[in-house]
Amino acid sequence: MSRDRRHSEAPAPFWGRRFRDHAALAWAPAKVNLFLEVTGHRDDGYHELETLMLAVDLYDMLELSRIDEPAIGLNCNDPSLGNDTNLVVKAAAALHARYSPEWGAVVRLTKKIPLQAGLGGGSSDAATTLLALNDLWEIHAPREELSEVAASIGSDVAFFLQPPAAWCTGRGETVEPAPLGQELDLVIVKPPHGCTTAAVYENLSLPDSPRSADAMRKAVHRGNASEIGRALHNRLEAPALKIQPEIADVLRALQAEKPAGVRMTGSGSACFAVCRDRREALRVAAGVREAAPADLAPEMVFVVKSWPTV
Ligand code: C5P
Repeated sequence: MSRDRRHSEAPAPFWGRRFRDHAALAWAPAKVNLFLEVTGHRDDGYHELETLMLAVDLYDMLELSRIDEPAIGLNCNDPSLGNDTNLVVKAAAALHARYSPEWGAVVRLTKKIPLQAGLGGGSSDAATTLLALNDLWEIHAPREELSEVAASIGSDVAFFLQPPAAWCTGRGETVEPAPLGQELDLVIVKPPHGCTTAAVYENLSLPDSPRSADAMRKAVHRGNASEIGRALHNRLEAPALKIQPEIADVLRALQAEKPAGVRMTGSGSACFAVCRDRREALRVAAGVREAAPADLAPEMVFVVKSWPTV
């Protein structure tokens, strides 16, 4: 393991607390995509993206314990998430393979972020695992090295090393932090059925001319919710609607409450509203719960803020 960090960026923090040297509690935030344009096909089979991601205070929780054998264990409250394919295990294994610490880890994962939603829950769990184990395993790798490990796990993982907001390009793994002028209040709504990312990309038609991100760049810099609401864009919304028409009902129910703007996030199926303040967010959430589009479960409506706050 290289100990020469003189020319590297400072290690990234992890959003949690370390206890008694060998245990940590960490929070893994969800994200929404305020802007997502697909600008081309890539030779590796992925798509070229220009997307603005924003982390929000809807979390999964991870309890990590360092153990003396070099093994990785996972307990999860959601039995549908297999251990071998879980991105927490992949992240821990990738970090272990690169730095060979003398320890292993057991992780207890409590899921709150809905699955197949475009909210980045699995990617965030993976990034949070990297940040927390970087500390617990006393690796102290700088952020640029963690970003390389993150990119090997999934396209969205590197973003979660640098919330709250960042422009992500390439397949999503090239991350440029975007100063957010002001906290944002949002409402997230997850319809009963999810979307598979690969299926959404298969149904995508590339635009003849990609949408410019200029208006969103200016709006997010100022942190003006009304401007951000007008500049929202998601190229994956149309293909996701073909696969899961109930997304249209959810978008309509949100629009009926007249927030600053409404869009689907990532490859769906969750949708969100950008609101002008917390009061408006609470009103929008109440209206959507009442309308119950597509047999929506009331607990699948979340009032959130951008996170961590600036
Ligand atoms: O990287 P990740 O595992 O999150 O991607 C899931 C799937 O989404 C990929 O297998 C690919 O089909 C699609 N994808 C894409 N272009 C991207 C990101 C994801 O085509 N930039």
